[in-house]
Amino acid sequence: MFVIQLISLLLAAEIAVVSSSCSSKLERSLFDDLIGMMLKLKGTEHGGHGNEMKLKETPAFSVYRNSPQSLSSSTVVKFDRVWTNNLNGYDVSTGVFTVPVAGLYHFSAVVMSESDKQLFLNLWHNDSKTAGSLSSGNGYKTGTFDVVLDVKKGDRIYIRCRDNNAQKIYSDTDNYSTFSGYLIAK
Ligand SMILES: *[C@@H]1O[C@H](CO)[C@@H](O)[C@H](O)[C@H]1NC(C)=O
Ligand SMILES: *[C@@H]1O[C@H](CO)[C@@H](O)[C@H](O)[C@H]1NC(C)=O
Repeated sequence: MFVIQLISLLLAAEIAVVSSSCSSKLERSLFDDLIGMMLKLKGTEHGGHGNEMKLKETPAFSVYRNSPQSLSSSTVVKFDRVWTNNLNGYDVSTGVFTVPVAGLYHFSAVVMSESDKQLFLNLWHNDSKTAGSLSSGNGYKTGTFDVVLDVKKGDRIYIRCRDNNAQKIYSDTDNYSTFSGYLIAK
């Protein structure tokens, strides 16, 4: 409503300027700029980024495990339970997120080690490692990943066991181990 009222005001003011004798190209371009600003405001007003991102059209996933998984060298961690999987980019059978829409994404994960055991993992972007996570020591430990990546449609994002390590990622029905990602901007 706020935006519509302002646009009406601007249009009314523009008519006044056009009908007055001092109308000029400069004033016209100022009005065009103002209207452009109002339209941009309308986008951000809804938490969008200049364009409204609709809930079901926004790539976003949040998946978890509620049981441990044994990992041999280079095994991909399979977060086999789903909270959110808009656009179905995450494949629970492979553990790989395939980017459905290119853009800037935030990815994060929490990975819990077995009690007293080491857990050494990497977050992969296609065939390259990005961040690493190493947990070791007494008791259950959590490692985390937190990256922002500019990715292309079809790129693959996944968490994989560090080469040459047989380990276990721990979780139980308290859903300790989780993996999430979502589009920030196109
Ligand atoms: C990532 O791999 C996919 C195929 O799995 C390929 O289509 C895409 O071009 C690759 N992206 C980059 C940035 O290399
Ligand atoms: C784990 O997540 C599932 C699905 O949301 C939920 O039903 C369950 O209560 C969660 N476990 C705990 C202990 O909160």
